[in-house]
Amino acid sequence: MPRDAVQRRAFSVYSRIVGTGSYLPEQIVTNFDLERRMDTSDAWIRERTGIERRHIAPLGQSNVDMAEQAARAAIAAAGLQPTDIDLISFGTTTPDLVFPNAGVLLQARLGCRGGPAFSLEAACSGFIYALAVADKFVRAGDAKHALVVGSEILSRITDHSDRSTAILFGDGAGAVVLAASAEPGILSTHLHADGSYQHLLYCTGGPARGPAPGNMPPGDVVRMAGSEVFKIAVTLLGRIVDETLAANHLEKSDIDWLVPHQANIRIIQAVARKLGLPIEQVIVTVQEHGNTSTASVPLALDVGVRDGRIKRGDLLLLEALGGGVTWGSALLRY
Ligand code: COA
Repeated sequence: MPRDAVQRRAFSVYSRIVGTGSYLPEQIVTNFDLERRMDTSDAWIRERTGIERRHIAPLGQSNVDMAEQAARAAIAAAGLQPTDIDLISFGTTTPDLVFPNAGVLLQARLGCRGGPAFSLEAACSGFIYALAVADKFVRAGDAKHALVVGSEILSRITDHSDRSTAILFGDGAGAVVLAASAEPGILSTHLHADGSYQHLLYCTGGPARGPAPGNMPPGDVVRMAGSEVFKIAVTLLGRIVDETLAANHLEKSDIDWLVPHQANIRIIQAVARKLGLPIEQVIVTVQEHGNTSTASVPLALDVGVRDGRIKRGDLLLLEALGGGVTWGSALLRY
């Protein structure tokens, strides 16, 4: 191995979160607003999901518009300049364009040219996937300040006439900056996928496949077999909690904070129970944000950091499951 590569590796043992940021569109849609549009009720939505309101981006606001706000907040929190960013790893399933990818569009907005910038689609696990990839670049010595983003405008692929999904989703963006560090840092990431479940949660179309024959507006939309996905989520997220703890030789009681994907309060409670964690040690934003897909974990993380609950040195478990299915976790010392 060349000497400079050996030196780089010696310094970049871990990647560490040095800044977090988030952005939510101004417009809020409450359960009461939805009651007026479809056959549902505030009581049903709160009881079955925990959601009370969600933010919805107006037409004219794009994914990268939101991502830029979250990214700038994370970079400022890290005490860095956008030009310090040398890699962008961007999780999203609702990119502005098929290409250039969302990472490249964001790079242009931030004015940090030259480093790699890419987006990846792993539905609601997209941020965990993007974080795991960026962590490996930093640990390998190939990036010093990586920007990791989860940003989503699910309202653009929601069937607003389908009460079983329209009540769930919201828009938003979250971001973190990872820096190379001798101190931990991200301790481990665990990624999984099982494509045999693809029929349970998916978008009906894409650029290569084209729209389904006879497909009329609202165009391509999310379809979900909710109760099946619910059961799979509880099982697989419970399993990944065990996997993550075992890989790090840790006990459940070592975890200070669970920062889960915010799909449903009942799934969050099931994972917390598995960890033996009281709900007070879980960052819960589902009531405010709904399910923002790739944005939900970094949004929750930013809330916990900025309101002072998550402190430097705390041990955090991040987890998510999404369409595919894909699922993943990250264990980190904040
Ligand atoms: N308002 C009122 N009633 C509704 C409703 C709504 N918005 N949506 C569905 N219902 C009805 C159904 O029609 C059904 O009625 P029926 O018994 O007369 O047939 C009943 O409520 C129960 O439906 P079901 O789908 O079994 O409810 P559920 O308890 O499973 O809750 C979800 C539905 C979607 C909230 C829940 O399954 C869920 O959160 N799933 C997982 C989502 C997830 O984690 N996604 C992965 C990451 S994106």
